[in-house]
Amino acid sequence: MANPASGRKSNVVRPSAAYFRSKQRDEGGPTSKPIIVMEEVYKYFRRDVPTLRNVNLTVERGEFVFVTGPSGSGKSTLLQLIYRQHTVDGGRILFSGRDISRLTDASIPFLRRNLGIVFQDFKVVPHWTAYENIAISLEILGTTPRLLRSRVADALERVGLAGRGSERTETLSGGEQQRVAIARAIVTEPALLLADEPTGNLDPQLAIDILTLFEEIHDAGTTVIFATHDHSLLQSAPHRLVVIDEGRLIEASQGLRAWSARMQSLGNSHAS
Ligand SMILES: Nc1ncnc2c1ncn2[C@@H]1O[C@H](COP(=O)(O)OP(=O)(O)OP(=O)(O)O)[C@@H](O)[C@H]1O
Ligand SMILES: [Mg+2]
Repeated sequence: MANPASGRKSNVVRPSAAYFRSKQRDEGGPTSKPIIVMEEVYKYFRRDVPTLRNVNLTVERGEFVFVTGPSGSGKSTLLQLIYRQHTVDGGRILFSGRDISRLTDASIPFLRRNLGIVFQDFKVVPHWTAYENIAISLEILGTTPRLLRSRVADALERVGLAGRGSERTETLSGGEQQRVAIARAIVTEPALLLADEPTGNLDPQLAIDILTLFEEIHDAGTTVIFATHDHSLLQSAPHRLVVIDEGRLIEASQGLRAWSARMQSLGNSHAS
């Protein structure tokens, strides 16, 4: 069950049907738990070498977390496990206290409606208008037409595209298309926003603008996990930083400098 009538800045996970029902209430409800807990997570795409190995990560509600690391290290895989494009081969992932690997296929939509996702290549439908690309997220939830219109208009405004809803998305610039994709991700007011290299196709100034937009969304109460290997972005914003290197997660609590030193030492020793 979605509750599209909830306020725009609501930080509440909308308990949705079977997903958040029952036990959670006895334990204080889903909002009292970290939004993500990964415990000893392993993912194997090849039998011999795990893509993710023994990953432990807790993300509290309201955090902004950068995930970085070399190409092929497992950043996208980590996010894909959270939105259950793939399932873990070892360990478990709790979303608001619930083990997502135990969700039946039928309940995966209930997970996804509490997640917004933004990709590097926007994944907007080019011949649809901006409005249509955003509205689809709400149509899936069965939102009434009147509420849908106001929510889409609101989302367009939040991403700086007020009044641009009728434009076909393919006629928009890359930065604008990514804003449409972000609006589509946040129009349902997800508790958690995942971003997988959302600035990878944008020039540096636009990348900063898009990061700023994510920060505004975060300031309004949404938890954000933002994967990027763009050092200038990591340097521009003092958020928690976790590094994935060869499938292992390293908490770079001292920030980018500590991570750089760590990466250098890994490179020097060629540790595996
Ligand atoms: N669906 C899949 N099937 C097989 N192997 C996969 C699959 N997805 C990812 N991998 C492998 O897992 C490893 C990690 O990939 P992943 O896409 O998570 O890396 P990444 O850190 O996001 O890299 P990039 O910075 O280039 O986006 C790679 O070796 C990749 O080939
Ligand atoms: Mg990736």
